[in-house]
Amino acid sequence: MSESGRIPAALIRELRSARHVCVLTGAGISAESGVPTFRDAQSGLWEKYDPLDLATPEAFRQDPALIWRWYRWRRELVAAAIPNAGHVALARLASFVPRLTLVTQNVDGLHQRAGSADVIEFHGNLFDDRCAADGCVVDCDSVAEVPVCPGCGSNVRPGVVWFGESIPETALHHSFAAAAECDVFLSIGTSSLVFPAAGLAEIANESGATVAEINPNTTGMAAGFDYAIAGKSGTVLPELVARLEARD
Ligand code: OAD
Repeated sequence: MSESGRIPAALIRELRSARHVCVLTGAGISAESGVPTFRDAQSGLWEKYDPLDLATPEAFRQDPALIWRWYRWRRELVAAAIPNAGHVALARLASFVPRLTLVTQNVDGLHQRAGSADVIEFHGNLFDDRCAADGCVVDCDSVAEVPVCPGCGSNVRPGVVWFGESIPETALHHSFAAAAECDVFLSIGTSSLVFPAAGLAEIANESGATVAEINPNTTGMAAGFDYAIAGKSGTVLPELVARLEARD
């Protein structure tokens, strides 16, 4: 069953009695900070490229300089962005529940900058540099068109997870454990199209948690969730935290 529109009173009650809340966020939560989502068309300089074609190991092998130009552009964009009301509300949510696990598919670090602790970065971090040969984190001269690993001389790549690559083991383990044992699972600002991240809500659902989606465009997955709140995270999340705070 799915309920759209305003925040249901039952969800607020379930959040109040929850021992463990697990949250999964996607690109939509950073949209109101001016960071483009993956499935929006790109604009300006990058409008002829599909981000899904740039975020692959094959694309990096073919044209590492192009991929680095795109990631430098993203780094600059994210460095200039500031966390929005949705990020801030999620950081506050942690003080209203005994335990909160925040898993993000985003690589922008905006949750951490809003004050969230122990964020699980499912798809890595935009600002890490890794050796493309062995994956080790490197400290390199990232001014070069394609930086090279000071240890082995291989190309250096951005420290994000690309299509077809594995999720970091610790992130995967902790996320799936949290989804399986939480009482309430919130799926926020994600199209729920990319697995294994999209599978977390399914695990929570099957394990008996209450599952709610917050997204202005209700996704195909939401029909199987308990609640679908059709709204922007920058509006819905502050309202949700205010309701918890008010104890109405
Ligand atoms: P998508 O770009 O697929 O989806 C963004 C979602 O955010 C859409 O469902 C929008 O409706 C929603 N949205 C837009 N504005 C919003 C707002 N203000 N508040 C709440 N929701 C809003 O992004 P993800 O689901 O994060 O992976 O994509 C998942 C993964 O696919 C990414 O981590 C990345 C990408 O390819 C890799 O690169 C491996």
